[in-house]
Amino acid sequence: MTVPLESVDLRKTYRYKGRENLAISNFTFTVRRSMIFSLLGRNGSGKTTFVKIATTQLEQDSGTVRVFGKDIKTDADEIRSMTSLVPQESRPFPHLTPREHVYYYQRMLGNTREGAKDSTDYVCILLDMDYFADKECVNLSGGQKQLTMVAISLSADAQIYFLDEPTIGLDVITRRKVWEAIQKFKEKGKTIILTTHYLDEAAALSDEIAIVSYGTLVRQGTLDGLRSALSHDTRVFLPGVRYDQSYAKFGESQELPNGLLLYTDRESVDEILAGNMISKSRIEVGPVGLDDVFISLVGEQIEGE
Ligand SMILES: Nc1ncnc2c1ncn2[C@@H]1O[C@H](COP(=O)(O)OP(=O)(O)OP(=O)(O)O)[C@@H](O)[C@H]1O
Ligand SMILES: [Mg+2]
Repeated sequence: MTVPLESVDLRKTYRYKGRENLAISNFTFTVRRSMIFSLLGRNGSGKTTFVKIATTQLEQDSGTVRVFGKDIKTDADEIRSMTSLVPQESRPFPHLTPREHVYYYQRMLGNTREGAKDSTDYVCILLDMDYFADKECVNLSGGQKQLTMVAISLSADAQIYFLDEPTIGLDVITRRKVWEAIQKFKEKGKTIILTTHYLDEAAALSDEIAIVSYGTLVRQGTLDGLRSALSHDTRVFLPGVRYDQSYAKFGESQELPNGLLLYTDRESVDEILAGNMISKSRIEVGPVGLDDVFISLVGEQIEGE
């Protein structure tokens, strides 16, 4: 059975002022059907470059991407008809309303007047946009404009949705509306490729996560799989505490401006708590999270023993 998305040994170099900038190399991964797949990485790690190549807006140097078995080089039209995109940093036209944007997009896709109206109404309700859907975009807030771009993309009846930072600038309630919509699309059998810097969003939504660093894939797996790849299972935050050698035996530590973060094992927690003079209620103990995985894979090195 063909998979929704396959990237095979993809490579892309930009040329800028006579210099070469390697944006993606050895980029190989597969995304299974009906899943939310997140690409995470620091700024400039190559996520948008990948999205642009996979949606046939940018040509690769070598390697390929296949969407449901179709090759980006030879089957670009078919790929466009199966995909929908929220591009990073896109903006709506100032003198059209959100409702008009979605409606005209639907008409461009070939939908009938009635069908376009139904799809427009559906997505405006889905994303809770009715209260601003008839205002010209020039008069909307930044988040309302962003939500308009999400609405346009989600109105398309695609097989695979590329959402490049779809919730940037959205308030926490609106973000959750978008999460619910994305989840709904997955339940309908759609595949979603998501990039985000909100790691809580990636953790809440993703079936699989790929972490990218300097244009290469450093790890791919489920959230639990990624967590178990860390050498410690527990994080302990000691507010107001500075590092000293006595913490070295517990694992790895990182000094933050407001306290000490320890990566340790569950068995050591009691000893850490007992050895601290600060109030137990202020100490935060929990399992390692996606941000810990992210920092350990692509962030600054955590101080070791
Ligand atoms: N048009 C361009 N010309 C030259 N270099 C570019 C161009 N677009 C991107 N780059 C470079 O390619 C690299 C990857 O950029 P890309 O936009 O794919 O990163 P990203 O992971 O999407 O980052 P962000 O999280 O900030 O959106 C960066 O080093 C960037 O400076
Ligand atoms: Mg980007």
